[in-house]
Amino acid sequence: MSEFDLVIANGTVATASDTFKADVGIRDGRIVALADDLQGGIQTIDATDHLVLPGGIDSHVHISQPSGPGIVMADDFESATRSAAFGGNTLVMPFCLQTKGASLRQAVRDYHALAHGKCYVDVSFHLIISDPLPTVLGQELPALVSDGYTSFKVFMTYQDLALTDIELLEVFSTARETGALVMVHAENYDAIRFLTDRLERAGKTAPHYHATSRPIPVEREATYRAISLAELVDVPIMIVHVSNGEAIEEIERARARGLKVFSETCPQYLVLTEKDLEGLNMEGAKYVCSPPPRDRASQEACWLGLRREIFQTFSSDHCPFRYDDPAGKLTPKARTTFRWVPNGIPGVETRLPILFSEGVVKGRITLNQFVAFTATNHAKVYGLHPRKGTIAVGSDADIAIWAPNRRAKITAADLHQGADYTPYEGFEVTGWPVTTVVRGKIVVDCGELVGSLQHGAHIKRARSDYAVPADVRL
Ligand code: URP
Ligand code: ZN
Ligand code: ZN
Repeated sequence: MSEFDLVIANGTVATASDTFKADVGIRDGRIVALADDLQGGIQTIDATDHLVLPGGIDSHVHISQPSGPGIVMADDFESATRSAAFGGNTLVMPFCLQTKGASLRQAVRDYHALAHGKCYVDVSFHLIISDPLPTVLGQELPALVSDGYTSFKVFMTYQDLALTDIELLEVFSTARETGALVMVHAENYDAIRFLTDRLERAGKTAPHYHATSRPIPVEREATYRAISLAELVDVPIMIVHVSNGEAIEEIERARARGLKVFSETCPQYLVLTEKDLEGLNMEGAKYVCSPPPRDRASQEACWLGLRREIFQTFSSDHCPFRYDDPAGKLTPKARTTFRWVPNGIPGVETRLPILFSEGVVKGRITLNQFVAFTATNHAKVYGLHPRKGTIAVGSDADIAIWAPNRRAKITAADLHQGADYTPYEGFEVTGWPVTTVVRGKIVVDCGELVGSLQHGAHIKRARSDYAVPADVRL
């Protein structure tokens, strides 16, 4: 009998802490050996001149999420997980959205039905709480957290999603009691409505006014408020998709006071700016996401936030809509004003190459930081470590093999997503993931899809150490 199902030989392995030459021996979906010169694999991949990294974990993606009347997300679970696999990811974390008045448990059932048998890579669901009903807070959430759904997202903006301050406090308090981690979308809804009304009255309706309607103070204020509310009930929070230095300052100030405030940034805040929304006609709609991309100074602040590890995670916030489609970015209402342009951009396939190229190759972050920001920290923050997010004996064999010197020009035609465009069209990168292995099975092999839709599984999560309260008020 062979000792290994698969050996990845002759590569350079990198984890969040170390870089070393080793062969990786895999059996029954797990890593069982790390050593020089492993023999006895039923199958062997020669990774000479390649990097062998933990598969990317993208802890912030939206798949098949209802997005308003007549609007359809560009990806279902099949296309999103295919695109994720080609982008070097082995696990994605989409959201189960509770609709107002409805059961959260039912939302979870519905998303499982959508995902079942449709995933090339593993998935693990977060919950979105849009209506913190007594039944949701008192019964559904405690039971769901015990069942392995150990994180939820709340919104401070968007019609039908924004929670009031008292609702936020109620969710935060339930998170503390259940040991769940809350992700916060921090933008002030009333301020956005006020600015949007004013812009529309002045006839300023083109897509680029989306950015004008949500300037930095809108995000900074909500970041500060979310932190303050979390402090009142002593609960750790994760501020997602942070776009600028002023929000980062609020997070740093909170940490200096001993609060457990974690944070995430995304590719759009490193390489896009508000100027990208200024395309001719409706082209700017391709870049409409919230918070919006800012300016060069904000990009630099986000890079510094990565370098100084103020951010724990780097996610895509993949939220794809087709551009040239009345059910996508160009709905009839969206053509009349930016207010109705669906928010969100595709990015699950391009997240890793952009950070590798702009970060590691250009010397802004180390290779080990890259692994931490794109895999290990996601696993730690969301209760998946050490099963996921690292290359270690006993961990799942979730691995991406990278050609670190391969040059590529990002173009929608080469991607494997459902959207008909990429906001990164023409962006040049060095370094690309060529082979993706999920629990020991090759899903993408040198750029060819060889995986099965039956292989991706839903992974239940433990409560995260990051969700343990700081007890600063004791
Ligand atoms: O514009 C964005 N970010 N859309 C996705 C939903 C969200 O707020 O994360
Ligand atoms: Zn959000
Ligand atoms: Zn999002």
